[in-house]
Amino acid sequence: MATLDLKNINKSFGATQVLFDIDLAIKDKEFVVFVGPSGCGKSTLLRIISGLEMATEGQIIINGEDVSEAHPVDRGISMVFQSYALYPHLTVYENIAFPLRVQKASKEEIETKVMEAAEILKLVDRLQFKPGALSGGQRQRVAIGRSIVRKPKIFLFDEPLSNLDAALRGDMRVELSTLHKDLDATMVYVTHDQIEAMTMADRIVVLNGGVVEQFDTPMMLYHQPINKFVAAFIGQPSMNFIGAVVTGISDSGLAMRLEGDVNMVLPVATEGMKIGDLVEVGIRPEHVHYAPENGILNITIDILERLGGSSITYGPVAGCKKFCAALDGEAPITEGQTVPLGVDPADCHVFKMDGTALTRQKIPTLV
Ligand SMILES: Nc1ncnc2c1ncn2[C@@H]1O[C@H](COP(=O)(O)OP(=O)(O)OP(=O)(O)O)[C@@H](O)[C@H]1O
Ligand SMILES: [Mg+2]
Repeated sequence: MATLDLKNINKSFGATQVLFDIDLAIKDKEFVVFVGPSGCGKSTLLRIISGLEMATEGQIIINGEDVSEAHPVDRGISMVFQSYALYPHLTVYENIAFPLRVQKASKEEIETKVMEAAEILKLVDRLQFKPGALSGGQRQRVAIGRSIVRKPKIFLFDEPLSNLDAALRGDMRVELSTLHKDLDATMVYVTHDQIEAMTMADRIVVLNGGVVEQFDTPMMLYHQPINKFVAAFIGQPSMNFIGAVVTGISDSGLAMRLEGDVNMVLPVATEGMKIGDLVEVGIRPEHVHYAPENGILNITIDILERLGGSSITYGPVAGCKKFCAALDGEAPITEGQTVPLGVDPADCHVFKMDGTALTRQKIPTLV
């Protein structure tokens, strides 16, 4: 059992501050994923949790105990990196056993723990091989095995799958989720990969420039991003934005006129808003459809990508130079054409000019 609290973590390298006032309360057995653009501080924050790096200010608290000053090995944490750094001259068995040998564990204890890890990670028939004879996914599993035998309270992973090809990443993703369930451990996982984040996380921390933008469930990040940064970062392809002006306020939401003279009433919270305010409307590519009868946005298709199940199109819409629409696989459209698109107002997002989102009146109940 392990809760992990980060309190007011700040970190500077010399004169450059890279993390700002990070406060996170991670629950026991939670799978938390850190995502964010390159250089936003994900690895630094993970290293501070592990003790490999010291925070300039703030506390790391595990199970209520302040471990900010504790040595990495005394924190009960295990970290798995992108480069799995196995010992090439040792067998899989010895690689997994390594931390136990360092701890001078008994032969019986080593045997029991290595076999237990090998069972969980499906490596039993590979124990006598050397790493050179393993696939990338198997090597990564050995690296995880090495961390499991230490029975850490918290597992930290820094982009552990990014050296693997797409198919293996998919398999490992499922294996890691299963592992999380089997071990009942608290896990913190850093990735660039949105699909990994969305599929594996109980909750996701979106970091940007060393600041936590939002810490929430994957579905809340998707359906109610707190600001334009999170809205654009979560979801693939990225959300489109069109400028608009508020023309009316009612219980049904905000009436507005989008650039291109499109009028819509969007069901969002209206507190603090007034007629004449400038806003931006956010529309996800998957929320528009080809609507020859009653479309409201006209896209001129510059690029059409047929993926089979869907047709991804890019081109200008009034108020958005490069709008992206994910339409039906068989939508009868071609490059160069201007076609009408429909969108349900309930699917739209609205952002104030400072980037903060207005609360949507209805969001799907899966959340
Ligand atoms: N030892 C260091 N000395 C000075 N600056 C550092 C050091 N380590 C990291 N930084 C800086 O801190 C910032 C955050 O780096 P960090 O490695 O945490 O980013 P990241 O989010 O993990 O990026 P990536 O996705 O590329 O791995 C970067 O601007 C980086 O240049
Ligand atoms: Mg990193």
